[in-house]
Amino acid sequence: MNPINSKLQAAVWQDDHLQLLDQRLLPSEQVYIDLYDAPQTALAITDMVVRGAPAIGVTAAYGVVLAARHAYAKHPDAWRDAVQADMAILAAARPTAINLHWALQTLGDLFADIDGNPEAILLAKAKQIHEKDIADNQHMGSIGAGYLAENCRVLTHCNAGALATGGYGTALGVIRSGVSADKISKVYADETRPWLQGARLTAWELLQDGIPVTLLADSAAARLMQQGKIDWVIVGSDRIAANGDVANKIGTYSLAVLARYHGIKFMVAAPLSTVDYNVARGDDIPIEDRAAEEVLSVFEQRVAAQGADAWNPVFDVTPAELVDVIVTEKGAVENPTTAKMAALRDKPV
Ligand code: MRU
Repeated sequence: MNPINSKLQAAVWQDDHLQLLDQRLLPSEQVYIDLYDAPQTALAITDMVVRGAPAIGVTAAYGVVLAARHAYAKHPDAWRDAVQADMAILAAARPTAINLHWALQTLGDLFADIDGNPEAILLAKAKQIHEKDIADNQHMGSIGAGYLAENCRVLTHCNAGALATGGYGTALGVIRSGVSADKISKVYADETRPWLQGARLTAWELLQDGIPVTLLADSAAARLMQQGKIDWVIVGSDRIAANGDVANKIGTYSLAVLARYHGIKFMVAAPLSTVDYNVARGDDIPIEDRAAEEVLSVFEQRVAAQGADAWNPVFDVTPAELVDVIVTEKGAVENPTTAKMAALRDKPV
């Protein structure tokens, strides 16, 4: 098999503006949309043109660059206030992925020291965040793959790949590295209702790299595990609390419960920018509820009985005690606890 290093880019800075691959249209169409200001960028995040915690963070960073350009053109002496207003719009785009807030904070921290036009300095930082995310994913990939034995059969959920990050992917980064190291014999992906990130994005992304994938309905995972066909569940995260509780796509918690019952290992791959040390435990992570319509319809075609309502929380929280290992770019934490997560943060680089 060829070396696996996905070239897929969810977000691309193009000379003077941001391009986002419209993930709502994948896999049937590959269309990039052009964004020139921060409110447009925030709307693209809310509407799921781009999704996945690290990719949302990268996108928000470029959104701040666009905000700064407009603000400086209009108010060269008071650009910071105008940018802060746009940053508040970006921050509200989606509530659960902490990478969004982390990216805004990282760029905001530079404001005080900027003299003159801020655009070039902020763009350099946004590009650095983007490039570092790819490098971190590759590093996590090799750490995570180190946990896999030969002939490993893995199950992933949602899309935690190149499309959800700066590039390469977190959970799919581990899978890419595991396949490169010839350790993975089978990849299963949950279809991931209701947005079908697994069926539409993960399957497409893996096939682009020549990695065979078998899809299953989310509710089939228990049967698969009961038949002894899975060795590791590997997922990403939108936010990890200080104690190691993990918020990720709805359905992740049920996989973790099932994995523990069946003696299957459970790995979370996420960069440190996904760890929110200000949130003590998972109960305090805000969980996004999206429109009932996403459950009641499929591709805007109503499938549910007229008159039925729906509940659509799009993330859930897996308690740390069900996680065997959290893999970050700084190292792995096995059986995470508050003390172990703090030790990771404080470990010298
Ligand atoms: O609603 P989404 O598609 O943004 O949810 C994405 C996920 O839940 C991913 O698993 C998570 O962001 C990790 S991405 C590396």
